[in-house]
Amino acid sequence: MPESIKQIVFRILINNFIMNALFRIAGIDRWIYGSKNPYLSFRPSETKSVQENAGYSDRPEINEVLRKSKRDLLDTVESFCHEGDKLLDVGCGPGFYLDLFSNSKWITHATDINPDMLANARNHTSVSETFCGSYTHIHIPFKYKLIYCIGVLVYIPPYDLKVFFGKLYDNLEDGGVLYLNYPHALSWLDVVYNDMTYVQYSPNVIEQELKDKFDVIKHEHAFDGRTIGSYDKAPYQSLNPNTNRTYKNSYLLIAKKK
Ligand SMILES: C[S@@+](CC[C@H](N)C(=O)[O-])C[C@H]1O[C@@H](n2cnc3c(N)ncnc32)[C@H](O)[C@@H]1O
Repeated sequence: MPESIKQIVFRILINNFIMNALFRIAGIDRWIYGSKNPYLSFRPSETKSVQENAGYSDRPEINEVLRKSKRDLLDTVESFCHEGDKLLDVGCGPGFYLDLFSNSKWITHATDINPDMLANARNHTSVSETFCGSYTHIHIPFKYKLIYCIGVLVYIPPYDLKVFFGKLYDNLEDGGVLYLNYPHALSWLDVVYNDMTYVQYSPNVIEQELKDKFDVIKHEHAFDGRTIGSYDKAPYQSLNPNTNRTYKNSYLLIAKKK
């Protein structure tokens, strides 16, 4: 559907870090962006795979990093969790990662802002409790041994970041583990909030936010283990010999509740 004039004007406004900074200084960013989460109106397609509805295209070089990402999450759960421990998937989407734990020795709960995503996840995984709503706004009356959150931080605006980490802290058991995967920024422009509907955070901002509540165990490039910087001009180079594609890496943070 073609964009309306109003949508075009809004898009130009929000893709502009100067305007975004002015909105923040004026204290009206929450009012402007409060209802602009693109997933509030997203409908998963019945003809697409779980992977595609989760937002990942089905290409060999993408499948390669997704396989690694799944293996990393499973290894982390195996090393920190015991039989019967509860795991929470924050922003589970259609259940791409929940699949890993179907009929496993762990109990899975999940939350997502989008009810259709949760319905999809319930259809093909053994998730036992689901909670619908923005994670920064809903109350989840459980504590978890491990919480993982993959590809969701970009939808948490800066004014909600403190609440977001506060909720993660509250929902973890003492000594519980946070597993966070978020896209890495490719230029300084990305980390000055140039697009408020897809917010890219500098790892420094995340560590600053975490430092009183969590001990960082690992914080690195998710796909190739490189050390992190404020942003990273070098995109990930696929290991697949049949492609010379490069694309955005992600950062992987593993941290333990203090
Ligand atoms: C790119 S998808 C990733 C899905 C899944 N984590 C994965 O990696 O396969 C982002 C998901 O985050 C959910 N989401 C976005 N904003 C959210 C919020 N504020 N609270 C909870 N879920 C949110 C969306 O509905 C969507 O399902």
